[in-house]
Amino acid sequence: MQAVIDYLKKNQSRAVAELCEYVRFPSVSAQPQHRGDLRSCGEWLVEHCRAIGLEARLCATKGNPIVVAKTPRAKSNGATRPHFMVYGHYDVQPAEPLDLWKSPPFEPRVANGVLFGRGTSDDKGQALAHLKAVEAYLKTGTPLPCDITFVIEGEEEVGSGSLAAFLLEHRAELDCDAVVISDTGMPSSKHPALTYALRGIASFEVTLHGPARDLHSGIFGGTVDNPAMALCQLLGKLRDKDGRVAIPGFYDGVQPLSAYERKQFARLPFKARDYQRLLGVPKLFGERGFTPHEQRSARPTFEINGLTSGYQGEGSKTIVPAWARAKITVRLVPDQDPAKVIKRIRQHLKKLCPPTVRLEITEGHGAEPYLVSPTSPQAQAALRALKSAFGCEPVLIREGGSIPIVNQFKKILHADSLLLGLALPDDNAHSPNEKFDLDCFAKGQLMGVYLWQELSGV
Ligand code: BES
Ligand code: ZN
Repeated sequence: MQAVIDYLKKNQSRAVAELCEYVRFPSVSAQPQHRGDLRSCGEWLVEHCRAIGLEARLCATKGNPIVVAKTPRAKSNGATRPHFMVYGHYDVQPAEPLDLWKSPPFEPRVANGVLFGRGTSDDKGQALAHLKAVEAYLKTGTPLPCDITFVIEGEEEVGSGSLAAFLLEHRAELDCDAVVISDTGMPSSKHPALTYALRGIASFEVTLHGPARDLHSGIFGGTVDNPAMALCQLLGKLRDKDGRVAIPGFYDGVQPLSAYERKQFARLPFKARDYQRLLGVPKLFGERGFTPHEQRSARPTFEINGLTSGYQGEGSKTIVPAWARAKITVRLVPDQDPAKVIKRIRQHLKKLCPPTVRLEITEGHGAEPYLVSPTSPQAQAALRALKSAFGCEPVLIREGGSIPIVNQFKKILHADSLLLGLALPDDNAHSPNEKFDLDCFAKGQLMGVYLWQELSGV
């Protein structure tokens, strides 16, 4: 084991250089012009996996290719060894707005022990940490106590549309004892965390169509409804004064938080003032009756992600816009059902929409919420690995983000996901100036090393 740990230490600057190479690919899955970049990024990853001693291949899908890489299987002496999957994603969120980046998003830059660039934290750096841990075993000739298969996909940020079919098709090969995922966060570098719940998600776009074309607002304004105004009024009715989502049936199935869980939440480090400053808001806002930790991870929400209508260029243009559109996602918690929630939203919007505009709703991706036992032997093993790597007591948390495929791992492969996030709250995931702490990168690699020992022992 010492050889493995020494190897990681000795090769840390090379690992950072490799992460930089990886981050240079603008693998933005939401933007069709990056299709080729996603492919090149996947190819780079396969090459990298081979270079560290894995058997790797790039698997075509209807969407972006999936990287599958396996540790060389030890000669079987009849006994079966545990088999674990490591899941990650090589696609990233759009980098816009570009002018807010202090250095270009796909030109990684190290400063004060952190690496800046789109995807450094979500999820290229976190996934690479696991590859480096396995590399250290393979390159030092240290026997692994288990078989490991990496599955790194290119569509996580757009809902993992191709992966479920891939799991079904390859379920014999991918059948495993658990899935290890580093694509979440921890409250601070002194609070390494095992995440035992994720929120689900449902996305859709609402468009209100008004006049057949943009109209002169002086000549026609006052005789037709303004779709932008109608949309604002419509959306404004969807939240009440207590910060609750005002859609009948929206909260159906929401499991109340137990007193035990609320007590655990209260023990997590949190300073409202620091949190507010980090986010740059004049005052925090959330559903009344819940703490910020609860609001952001254990309560469902309704968010407008984008709002478009009319003229957006410089100066003014006096028009009544022909249409107005909102991009919306709702975050869901156990046991809300994404399909049912969307149905309720449709019904309600139809009811609220005035006859002066035409309502159009298009549905996007969706994912169910996820909840797993934090007391299972595997979870306990993961906690021990976190403790050894970070040198402090890990915490159990719920997270507000979504990883759409985790429920499919359970349904198709019957495997629980161990969510061992390496991101810090100020990593700026999905925001300008995303960064990854290089100390988290190094400790994540170390965690990977301990993890295989701990997990294989249970
Ligand atoms: N890494 C995140 C998910 C995450 C972040 C979970 C922080 C918990 C804490 C992941 O890459 C992500 O952003 N997922 C998307 C999924 C969506 C587009 C379907 C998300 O949550 O918005
Ligand atoms: Zn993300």
